[in-house]
Amino acid sequence: MDNSEDLRADDVAQHGWAHGRLPLPTEGREWRRFASAWDDLVPDAYLGPARCRRNRRYGRVLAHRDGTLEPLVGTEFFQSKQINRAFGDQLRVFEPLTDEALASTRFTEILRESVALVNEAAGKRDWELGIHFIRVIADADEASEPAPEGRHRDGHEYVAIHLIDRHHCVGGESQVFRRGEERAQHRVTMTEPLEALVLSDTTMEHAVSEIRTEQECECGWRDTLIVDFNTVSDLTEVAGRTHSSLQ
Ligand SMILES: [Fe+2]
Repeated sequence: MDNSEDLRADDVAQHGWAHGRLPLPTEGREWRRFASAWDDLVPDAYLGPARCRRNRRYGRVLAHRDGTLEPLVGTEFFQSKQINRAFGDQLRVFEPLTDEALASTRFTEILRESVALVNEAAGKRDWELGIHFIRVIADADEASEPAPEGRHRDGHEYVAIHLIDRHHCVGGESQVFRRGEERAQHRVTMTEPLEALVLSDTTMEHAVSEIRTEQECECGWRDTLIVDFNTVSDLTEVAGRTHSSLQ
């Protein structure tokens, strides 16, 4: 597949996954301002002995079916051990997304496009979005695993994995599997900013191979924006956790 093709909701609906690009600009001042948020992430405090170095921030946003986006208060993130064998069964509290990142119009556009695509594939609903800004870092003498848990699903209904940037790194091949099948449906090393995979997280699994630095480089990294989608069946569940609407 051409990496620059648009993402298609039909692919998600029919096959459980889509690969392509969001039709948004990745040059100019607004993009640079948005992408610079990945220079301002915080080391993940929960890695333990995992062969991974990563910085991150996390936030939640309520995506109403009418298109309104409302950031939610709180940055706790929980997955069961069944879902995440490396980091499950512990409440992880991450540093929040910065006000500057939340105010970025490019960020809002990415969320709107992602939500529109998933709504087209799944049927319009209210979603609680989990938003992960992640930089996985490799050093000259040490590779780094973007997904130390191996082949997995994330424990949500849909997941969108957007590449933001790569810097002097090789590897980081994404693999998409249908649950219970050995053979990958798709393998791709994403290289273009805003190239993305959108997955039905209930029917598919994914994995990412390790990254290493390019030859002669001291340090390399891979920046991603991961958006997880959880249906909100009762909006009163999230009442009181919202603050100002995104523009
Ligand atoms: Fe994942």
